Amino acid sequence: MIGLKIPKNHADEIRRILLEYSLINHEFKIKRSDDFVFIPLIKKLDTEMMKELNLSSFEIIETEFESQKKEPKSLKDYLKNKISSEKIMEIKKSFDIIGDVVILEVPVELEDEKYLIGEAALNFTKRRTVYRKNSNIKGVIRIRELEYLVGEDVSETIHTESGSRLMMDVRKVYFSPRLATERERITNQVNDGETIIDMFTGVGPFSIAIAHKRIVEIYAIDINPDAIYYLEKNINLNKLQGTINPILGDVKNFLEDKDVMADRIIMNLPGTAYLFLESAIKSLKKGGVLHYYEFSRDFDKPIKRVRKAAGSREVKVLDKRRVKSRSPGVWHIGLDAMIT
Ligand SMILES: C[S@@+](CC[C@H](N)C(=O)[O-])C[C@H]1O[C@@H](n2cnc3c(N)ncnc32)[C@H](O)[C@@H]1O
Repeated sequence: MIGLKIPKNHADEIRRILLEYSLINHEFKIKRSDDFVFIPLIKKLDTEMMKELNLSSFEIIETEFESQKKEPKSLKDYLKNKISSEKIMEIKKSFDIIGDVVILEVPVELEDEKYLIGEAALNFTKRRTVYRKNSNIKGVIRIRELEYLVGEDVSETIHTESGSRLMMDVRKVYFSPRLATERERITNQVNDGETIIDMFTGVGPFSIAIAHKRIVEIYAIDINPDAIYYLEKNINLNKLQGTINPILGDVKNFLEDKDVMADRIIMNLPGTAYLFLESAIKSLKKGGVLHYYEFSRDFDKPIKRVRKAAGSREVKVLDKRRVKSRSPGVWHIGLDAMIT
């Protein structure tokens, strides 16, 4: 690339002249050696021009210049100078990536910037689609309203988690990638030969993760037909060691009608799982383990509920943890309890 080699002591003066005549190539960086400054030029200056600008004593050279253009690396880089860093942090915290899909929150005061934010998220993540969270997770089937922002409006995707593949339509079923560690934690506790009831299975992330690694028999129940549709797809998508029996319906009916006795029961419906505790515990073998989830500020409330539902059976709390934050001060609590 063409540049002008100038002794250091003349550099400022000449740079100003070149600036004035718009001859500096701003896509590249000026470089320096001990004695010289090298200025990238937009074109080769002919003798006449060199004379006119009083540059004849300097040398035009062919050399490499470093590009000015930095590839943006973060969402912050993409939105810099457009949105305040506090707001960018807020958006970043809300970010979920599920397969090819990005789901994020856009604060109401940034309504006018929503497409800009969507575009930035698309470029930053290199995914296919960006949706905005337009409601909380609600209703029996635990889904939220999503507003399409940018990309291809395709809400079906395949998410990969710890070697499992999970197909789903993010508009039609519940799924949280933030529970990946929790699923791994539960999977690590499972032994071959167990019978497991996954009471609120969704598209089956707990069931698939477990059956992927263990030779078990799982009864996976959900009331949402779309969740069971995708669970069936996911059973076929993954090479499973265990067996999963997908069951569409209310878990209450399953527990009443079938006399399955389980070594382990997973109850990930943190808002209302407590309503099902008594019947769940009745289906748990002596020494069986309950993985119970509840939205709570503390551990006391969920522990008391499990003890009450267990009645005369002994409850040994094996572990209690804050799985993730739900709202300020309120946690998605996880409790592992052995019921003997
Ligand atoms: C919070 S989601 C959890 C899904 C899944 N376990 C996961 O971790 O991604 C709760 C699921 O429970 C299902 N559900 C709610 N009430 C139910 C009931 N009475 N019987 C069976 N499934 C139910 C919903 O459709 C939803 O898919």
